[in-house]
Amino acid sequence: MILILNGSPNKYGNTKKVMNEVIKDIDEEVIEINAYEDKIAPCIDCKFCSHKSGCSIKDRGLDLYELIEKADKLIVASPLYFATLSGELVKLLSRFQTYYAGKYVRKIVNPSFKKAVLIVTAGGNWPTMFVGVQETFKVLSYIFYFEDNKKELLIPNCDERSPIQDESVLEEMKQLRAFLID
Ligand SMILES: Cc1cc2nc3c(=O)[nH]c(=O)nc-3n(C[C@H](O)[C@H](O)[C@H](O)COP(=O)(O)O)c2cc1C
Repeated sequence: MILILNGSPNKYGNTKKVMNEVIKDIDEEVIEINAYEDKIAPCIDCKFCSHKSGCSIKDRGLDLYELIEKADKLIVASPLYFATLSGELVKLLSRFQTYYAGKYVRKIVNPSFKKAVLIVTAGGNWPTMFVGVQETFKVLSYIFYFEDNKKELLIPNCDERSPIQDESVLEEMKQLRAFLID
């Protein structure tokens, strides 16, 4: 099963279009969580997970943990907001603190993803613009053990043209699809 964590509030926006193109024709169950619709509360650093698995916040975050157990591939997709992932997505990801504490504090083995993909669309273009999102994705790769099985599709200049009408982006999306299927 492929789990998508979508950080775009736009149902018909650049991120959603790219995501749809990437998963097109993939014959696997796909479950998408939209950070703006699912309203998963952020981590409040209560330290519950320093001692126990799970989380003290009893909301849809708990359903997300079940999906993490079930999924074997992960797609994180987001617009670039102020050079990072969108706010609601960062809030959602903060709930993975339970896995960070699991691995590094409680020393247990977390669920893992066989493969993971990061998709980010951005309006502008400057050399270091994606550094923040790459670092966040790196943290996820450590806690879910996919350091050697990850790919990134980081798309600048979306204010100037639709990413799904750009030949080079289309080619990259094709490669990403092949990576996920392979
Ligand atoms: C609040 C906000 C912050 C943004 N910050 C950046 C930014 O730092 N760099 C950039 O290139 N584009 C920025 N953008 C543009 C979006 O990243 C871009 O339009 C993106 O493709 C939107 O994706 P969506 O259509 O899936 O929502 C920002 C847009 C918004 C609404």
